[in-house]
Amino acid sequence: MSVNSYPIITSDEAALLIKDGDTVSFSGFSPAGAAKVVPRAIALRARDEHTKGHRFKVRVLTGASSGHIIDDELAQEAAVSWRAPYQSGPVLRRQINRQEVEYVDMHLSHVPQTVAEGFFGRIDFAVVEATEITSDGRVFLTTSIGASPTYLRYAEKVIIEINRHQSHRLREMADIFVMPPPPNRYPIHIYEPLTRIGLPYAIVDPKKVIGVVESDEPDRMDELAEPDETGHQIAEHVVNFLLEEMHKDRLPQNLLPLQAGVGNVANGVLAALGSHPDIPPFRMYSEVFQDAMVDLMFDETLMGASATSLTITSHKLKQVIDNIDFFAPRIVLRPQEISNHPGVIRRLGVIAMNTAIEIDIYGNVNSSHLYGMDIMNGIGGSGEFTRNSYLSIFMTPSIAKGGRISSIVPMCPHIDNNEHSVQIVVTEQGLADLRGLGPMQRAKVIIEKCAHPAYRDYLYQYIKNARLGHIQHDLTRCFELHRNLLEHGAMLPDFQTTNGKG
Ligand code: COA
Repeated sequence: MSVNSYPIITSDEAALLIKDGDTVSFSGFSPAGAAKVVPRAIALRARDEHTKGHRFKVRVLTGASSGHIIDDELAQEAAVSWRAPYQSGPVLRRQINRQEVEYVDMHLSHVPQTVAEGFFGRIDFAVVEATEITSDGRVFLTTSIGASPTYLRYAEKVIIEINRHQSHRLREMADIFVMPPPPNRYPIHIYEPLTRIGLPYAIVDPKKVIGVVESDEPDRMDELAEPDETGHQIAEHVVNFLLEEMHKDRLPQNLLPLQAGVGNVANGVLAALGSHPDIPPFRMYSEVFQDAMVDLMFDETLMGASATSLTITSHKLKQVIDNIDFFAPRIVLRPQEISNHPGVIRRLGVIAMNTAIEIDIYGNVNSSHLYGMDIMNGIGGSGEFTRNSYLSIFMTPSIAKGGRISSIVPMCPHIDNNEHSVQIVVTEQGLADLRGLGPMQRAKVIIEKCAHPAYRDYLYQYIKNARLGHIQHDLTRCFELHRNLLEHGAMLPDFQTTNGKG
């Protein structure tokens, strides 16, 4: 049996081709478009090998996070030795933090060129989900593009998962363009979010395709929670700020393209933007197309969006596919090297809105490592958008864990987006506009506008007693809140008594 002259193999047969120590690059950017049946078979193979006392672990590359099969099932079977470039699974996260898995947390647009340069070593396999592969090697991808075009080009051997559940018409959104290595690069001709510069398919050398595996499994996307009161307040501050900027003519009256990070807060901000009567119809140049954007597009509030994946729940995906004549001309799915490209982001003047774990009083952001040590997810695309956007906004609730943690701290023990790039900080308490301010003025406005009242005195005292300098710090106390948290379970051990309910 074959599909367009490629042999059909089972997922178990595919898994048997993979050896201990191989580097396997999977399609998928978030659970969208992720390879499914082959990684599951690799997990079962790992279980089998481990039962027999054999070592079996693979090095795993994806576009970004992946989802339950790769980051949970494969990890559960202790089948991952190395992982890049981003993850968000609880099982894998624990293994990384126990040093059982080596993790490379990196900017997502760098992945394709890092593969091409050979820094990840040989890519033994690409396992890529598609709706079709033609005999001349055109591969029509599904709900994400991510780094799949690069994996198809550079992997030694290729397995295609033909997913019958995914619509053939997804290809109408794909715009695939793979950059040549330097010095042969030329300007990327994207002048607005919907500009198309590529082809609707990725290309593979047919000789490398060792098998086609059939699948009909849908993307499994977690539902996002409805924004809580804190989320609503953050969203309101962001919306009011953008309206004020438009009023002062610091933003065009039809806004600039927006980017929104992952998670509930970002999704809530988008929904709030869409429902505000004074926010004009807008466009997005972002990384993931998420749930809130489907309704906004239907309402014609969101006029067009560029992304690298349709990270949407199954009922939203159905809505898109059922109305594909409406959606396809309004959505462009690009490789992550282009969706997150610094030059394009700068040219379009994107407004970036990302979420932080914590922010220090000078505007440095940590969005990846708890206490500077334990990985949460990773930097993802936040660095690319924050560094290069026209406006770079970071949002976070001012406290976490019922108030035992302040998200505004004297110094972040890990920094992934620094004060030189971060312009606006928002919590439910308020919004700090850092543009044009020196470090001590930044500190004052962040404490005043964004810190939770229960932590303000501590933060003011911190700078009062700090050593004089351009940026004032007390190196003996800059991580006191974090040390307290690790030693006593709360940043201010008497928090409950000082703040009542927290
Ligand atoms: N210290 C310790 N824990 C903290 C904390 C802090 N300062 N702030 C939050 N937390 C905890 C929360 O309590 C929560 O814990 P739980 O899982 O036990 O409930 C957890 O961290 C996640 O917090 P939450 O507020 O639910 O986060 P979120 O879903 O909005 O995600 C990030 C926030 C920062 C983790 C997420 O946006 C991320 O990974 N960002 C980096 C990548 C990125 O920006 N990608 C988009 C670019 S296009």
